[in-house]
Amino acid sequence: MKGIILAGGKGTRLYPCTRVTNKHLLPVYDQPMIYYPLKLLINAGIKDILIISGEGHAGDFLELLKDGREFGAKISYSVQMEAGGIAQALGLAEDFADKEKVVVILGDNIFENDLSLYVKSFENQEKGARLFLKEVNDANRFGVAEVKDERIVGIEEKPKAPKSNLAVTGLYMYDGSVFDVIKTLRPSDRGELEITDVNNYYINNSITNYDILDGFWSDAGTFESLFRTSEFMKSKK
Ligand code: DAU
Repeated sequence: MKGIILAGGKGTRLYPCTRVTNKHLLPVYDQPMIYYPLKLLINAGIKDILIISGEGHAGDFLELLKDGREFGAKISYSVQMEAGGIAQALGLAEDFADKEKVVVILGDNIFENDLSLYVKSFENQEKGARLFLKEVNDANRFGVAEVKDERIVGIEEKPKAPKSNLAVTGLYMYDGSVFDVIKTLRPSDRGELEITDVNNYYINNSITNYDILDGFWSDAGTFESLFRTSEFMKSKK
């Protein structure tokens, strides 16, 4: 299985810190943010990794991580020329994936759980997708899953009245058909190709398994969560 880290977007919620640099290069306690998803994948045995960043920043990632040797991985790079959404960024990885299953992680998502067992489960899953949910108090900030009889029946992106407290985290496992799914998408009201639309497609048309994570998880894309995540990482040292 191959790994894809999405590190594009404008990071406007972290202005002015992201005016001249990319969000995923900011520190989370004692490491650049991108180190966390990168090491998470590598520790789970995913060693062939593509990093997709935005225009103007790809060179910084290359200088920081080089070919990945130092981390025991092989890192490739691609550039998303406009912030057209998470699914649009993922679409750029089609040639890299070469029809294999992929693990996709948003570069600002920080997980405490080890992924090895989840990667094995998905290797054994015949087809479809695997999603990772987390109980939260502020579900309206995220994609929110509705679960009935232990099955996900749908996901709503940042709903005003969430149907559950289960946030869909930025860790996704897909079979090789994900790139065909992305080609069927239309931009949302905010003008982006939404990963939630990809997930709803899988829920309606294929097998979609999920796990509910128990360890620490955060989306470090706001000052509040970035600070909280740094505190958590410091407390673990
Ligand atoms: O963190 C989990 C949440 O991430 C999910 O619950 C939501 O369903 C999902 O839509 C996403 O929501 P956000 O509003 O937090 O996404 P954001 O725009 O902050 O982008 C998250 C990451 O995705 C960002 O760190 C880099 C990458 N990205 C984003 C966009 C819009 C790209 O690589 N390219 C893009 O065009």
